[in-house]
This record gives sequence, C-alpha cells and structure tokens, in this order.
Amino acid sequence: MFDLPDDQIVPLSKEHVFWTWSAQAKVNPIAVKRAKGVYFWDINNKRYLDFNSMTMCVNIGHGDQRVINAMKAQLDEIPYAAPGMATKIRAIASKAVAEITPGGKLSKVLFTLGGADANENAIKIARAYTKRHKILTRYRSYHGATAGAMAATGDPRRVAWEPNLMTGVVHFLDPYRYRSTFHRTNPNISEAEFTRDYLNHLEEIILYEGPESIAAILMESVTGTNGIIIPPAGYMQGVRVLCDKYGIVMIADEVMAGFGRTGKWFAIENWNVVPDIITMAKGLTSAYAPLGAVAMKPEIAATFDEQVFESGLTYTSHPVSLAAAVANIAVMKQDHIVENAAALGPVLHKLLTDLGESHPSVGDVRSIGLFGIIEVVKDRQTKEPMAPWNGNSPEMVALRKACLDRGLYVYTHWHTILIIPPLIITAEQLQEGMSVIDEALKITDQAVR
Ligand SMILES: Cc1ncc(COP(=O)(O)O)c(C=O)c1O
Repeated sequence: MFDLPDDQIVPLSKEHVFWTWSAQAKVNPIAVKRAKGVYFWDINNKRYLDFNSMTMCVNIGHGDQRVINAMKAQLDEIPYAAPGMATKIRAIASKAVAEITPGGKLSKVLFTLGGADANENAIKIARAYTKRHKILTRYRSYHGATAGAMAATGDPRRVAWEPNLMTGVVHFLDPYRYRSTFHRTNPNISEAEFTRDYLNHLEEIILYEGPESIAAILMESVTGTNGIIIPPAGYMQGVRVLCDKYGIVMIADEVMAGFGRTGKWFAIENWNVVPDIITMAKGLTSAYAPLGAVAMKPEIAATFDEQVFESGLTYTSHPVSLAAAVANIAVMKQDHIVENAAALGPVLHKLLTDLGESHPSVGDVRSIGLFGIIEVVKDRQTKEPMAPWNGNSPEMVALRKACLDRGLYVYTHWHTILIIPPLIITAEQLQEGMSVIDEALKITDQAVR
C-alpha cells in the first residue's frame, strides 16, 4: 500500500523515529514483515518462533482473520465516535468484558488506551471512593510508564524518573520464595508460614502508614517482568482479608497476567479471590489494536453517580479497538484458548524442570499456565545471578543472541529468561522453542563457578 524498499525500513526509521526504552544511538531493531500464528518473519524472510507474544500481548496469536475482519467491518460502519457518545460496539464490548470478570461482579467498565492509563484511572477512582490518598504496591512490580503508573511501579524503571512522579505510593516486599529476605536461614519453612510472614509484613506496613490514609493495594496478580512470582497458597486471600479489614480497595493489575495467560481468564481466579477493581490491556485485544480497561464493582463506580468523573481522553472507547476486543474475546471462547493455556501449563512446567536438571546455570524455574521463567545463575548455592540487578552481562547477551540466531524470539530480563508464548501454541512448538533455549544455556553453563 505504501511504497518503501525493504532495505530502507531500518535506515529511514533510525533517521526519524524516537525509540522507547532505548538509547537512541544503540537501537538495532528487527524489521518485521509479516506474522501468522506463533511465528513472525523479518524482511529477509527469516522465521522467528514468538516466545514473548511480541510484548506479552498477542495472546490469540498473529494474523487471526476473524479479528481483522471485525476491525475492518467496524471501520466501514463507524471508525470513530466522541467519547461521550454511545455506540453499538461500546455497549457490546462493555458487556463482554463485564461478563468475563470473576463471577461477573466487576460489572462497570471504563475503557482506556492501554495498561498504564488503566492503572492511573484505577488509582484515581480508588482515591475518590475511599477519600484516602496512599497507594501500596510492591517493589517487584511494573504498572506502566506514565507518571502515576511509573510511581506505582516498584522496579528500577521508576527510579530512573524520580523524583518527578506522582506522590503517595508506598512499596512493600513480594512473597518471592527463591530470594526471600526473611527466610535465608530457614528456606524450608512451610508454605503456610511463608505466606503468613509476608502477610504480616504487609499488615505492619499498613499500620505504620495509617490505614485511614490508604486508598488501595495495587498488585500484579502474578508478577510479570519482575520474575513470574506466583503468590503462595493463601496470600491473595490474605490480602483480600486485609483490604476488607482496613477498608482498602484491592486492585488486581491483570495487564500481563490476564486473558488466559495463567490458564484462567484472570490470574486472580487461581486463588478464588474477587478484587474490587481489575485493570487490563494487552490480551484484551491481543494487541490487534490499543485498548485497556478498568473493570470495577458497581458500588465503586457509584462514587461518580452524581459527582462528575473529571477524566477522559480523545480516543476513549475507540470503536475499532472495541471491535478488536469483542472479536478477540469471541475467538478465545470459540477456540478454547484459556483451556489450551491451562492444558499446556504442566507441559511447559515439565520442560522447564527438565532444563533445570540438566543445566548448572539454571537456579530456579517457575511457571503457571503459559507464563514461565528461568533464573540463570552463576552459582546455585549462592544464587548469584548471571547478570546484576537492573543490568546485563556478556553471558546473557550471548544467550539471547544465540536464541535469535536460531529463530527464537525470547525476552531476557537481567538474569532471567521469560517464556510467554501466544496461547494457541502447541506442545510440539513449545518443545521446539525450549530446545533452542536448551542449546543456548550451554553458554551460561560455561560461566558457572
Ligand atoms: C503488569 C503491567 N501493568 C501495566 C503495564 C502497562 O501497560 P501499557 O504498556 O499498555 O501501558 C504493563 C506493560 O507491560 C504490565 O506488564
């Protein structure tokens, strides 16, 4: 449709594009040409198995014609409507989202443009509802790159922008068993005791901060980029109890963990907990168009029955994005995609465990559904990571390059390898990708002390 020779794509982009998450002089992008299913191809026709669902978002896989057709039909019907207007697709999309929330209980839906502004709005709404100010989030968390969501983020991406961020966020520790500060000398503590210690830690912080000042606890239901940290048994239930005890709004950030990733529509369902607000994006449209959402209990939404909700963006409830969401949810139901993620969960877990047994540089593996991680270490005893906190290492760079060279697109974060494929993947394709990682881990094995 638009003419540009393939070999000009990268040079022209380098001339004019200002890249996110990058030092501008150092970008070296893959020039992607097409994508289908679990694969994509670059301009040299090299095929990659997509083990990161691009940005952990293409949950139903690439190039699903049913979603594309729905978006095209929406463009023909009405491509844009003002946020204050009602459209058929907006009515249908809000019902479709409300219905998949736990028990259908989060029945009021505010559409946003992505995950960061979903969290921003959830925070605003919780503050208005409780008439309190503070937000508690965890250190090992990512909640988005706008100033409020960045303040909520616990990891170094926040530190890079301090002090010019939203005020009122207090961080606490994640129940991260492999590197638990509290249990270094007692690693064999029972799961119940482990959970109790982390809930006690959270309650202590609530008391120090003053419950009457805390609007919300905002958490990724399963921590994503900061380590696929799966809550221990009883933890989420315990947070729910603390929220109820102190009148705090419980917000589950399901931007990455939602939409089937863990084998449930929303990860929080693994623990039968109903939060007060769920934020979502990514898998909501499988990234066929930008969209996020804040689904909330009606009593929270009622804060704004008479009071004006002083917020909104020009593209709120963009019809083409909503069409993508409705079609994406339909595809997920029709093709039993959540069930596929649940069924393949044990397959991925076994493949990860096998890698752990055969490679001395694998310190720990964790997974739930099709959400997995490998912690690469220099020393299993000391757990010294293969790359430092918020840093890289020649070994991890070489490992990722080895994967890419062999046609596996995978995300490495510091000393970890994340496995987050499209949820339509088969057991054979999972095996295909894991055998590439198996080969690549020989590089890091050589650096083991
Ligand atoms: C858990 C979580 N929350 C929020 C966000 C921010 O979403 P977005 O990039 O759509 O603003 C992300 C993005 O990676 C995420 O993983």
